[in-house]
Amino acid sequence: MTEKALLKPIKIGPYELPNRVFMAPMTRSRADNPENAATPLIAEYYAQRASAGLLITEGSQVSKQAVGYINTPGIYSGAQIEGWRQVTRAVHDRDGHIFCQLWHCGRMSHPDFHDGRLPVAPSAINPNDKSFTRKGFKDTVTPHALTTDEIHDTTQDFRRAAENAITAGFDGVEIHSANGYLFHQFFTNCSNVRTDEYGGSHENKARFFFETLDAVGRAIGFGKVGIRLNPSAHGFFGVTLDKATIPTFEHIVERLNDYHELAYAHFTEPLAPVDNVLDAVKEIAKHFRPRYRGTLVINCRFKHDSGNRVLDEGCADAVAFGKAFISNPDLVERIRRGAPWAKWDEDTFYVPGSKGYTDYPCFEEHP
Ligand SMILES: Cc1cc2nc3c(=O)[nH]c(=O)nc-3n(C[C@H](O)[C@H](O)[C@H](O)COP(=O)(O)O)c2cc1C
Repeated sequence: MTEKALLKPIKIGPYELPNRVFMAPMTRSRADNPENAATPLIAEYYAQRASAGLLITEGSQVSKQAVGYINTPGIYSGAQIEGWRQVTRAVHDRDGHIFCQLWHCGRMSHPDFHDGRLPVAPSAINPNDKSFTRKGFKDTVTPHALTTDEIHDTTQDFRRAAENAITAGFDGVEIHSANGYLFHQFFTNCSNVRTDEYGGSHENKARFFFETLDAVGRAIGFGKVGIRLNPSAHGFFGVTLDKATIPTFEHIVERLNDYHELAYAHFTEPLAPVDNVLDAVKEIAKHFRPRYRGTLVINCRFKHDSGNRVLDEGCADAVAFGKAFISNPDLVERIRRGAPWAKWDEDTFYVPGSKGYTDYPCFEEHP
């Protein structure tokens, strides 16, 4: 009986999806060309995984300023639209559905990516982390605090990127508002000490996010837009959680209920243990399910049994699997058959080429 929960169809936005096994967005750093455009190899990788109910791509930068890592694909230039078009075609040829994750790294970047100019953020506060540049890991710097006009321009970058995604054939987009990147930087006091309408109150800290959601939704239709939140993130990507953080997320989620057509809200359980973090929510799905009336996607460390259970308990509507999808292109079929899951190789997460990328076999191919 529980087997069925993950394999039940689900409707998100205008789409009837065949199952609730989504692929979580994962940076794989294979856009190793001067245009940072998706390649035939990237198309093959996503096509291999097209039986997922929904594929969510790796973070894709919405502008040059949004970049924070080497070899990540963009969705702001003509070449990038053409690159992604091969991916969406390959996935649609296999009857899959694919959303493009729209990404701005904000202060989690380095001047090396910006011809020496500073990365941007809500406030001029160094995350005191490392940035992986062409010359290896470098210390992050104190970023430039965005002006009001620059915030508005960034919203337009997201709107244009969403339109580009539709032009490239994507079924929709996921706004990356998690994991310590630009929107998350606005949500938390550790990175946002603004005194204007973009800082201070929960409403102000969420303003840039909702202005962007509005712009993107109006441009491509809210049914083609998902969003991602990681409310209990703490101690990585420059994020420090404090007593205001969870109330800010509760405010955001409460307001998301007004977006009746939104495709989904995608939550991550704590990526790192938060047992000793006083103000963190330990169980994200359980905490936010009663607060959110839309389609709730949950992620982080789910397996076959726990994935079915979280759905059966009514705490989520779909489960996004990350690393399991790296090493199991046929994850849905393995769930259907109760077959074992192959282990992933962390050493090949971010290196160029097909090794550890498109060479994981399907279950049938094992002796
Ligand atoms: C190699 C790798 C790259 C990732 N890149 C992204 C990304 O681009 N965008 C994002 O929102 N999360 C990213 N994540 C986080 C995953 O989406 C997911 O939250 C995490 O892997 C936990 O889920 P899992 O336990 O099912 O793997 C990445 C994770 C991994 C392992």
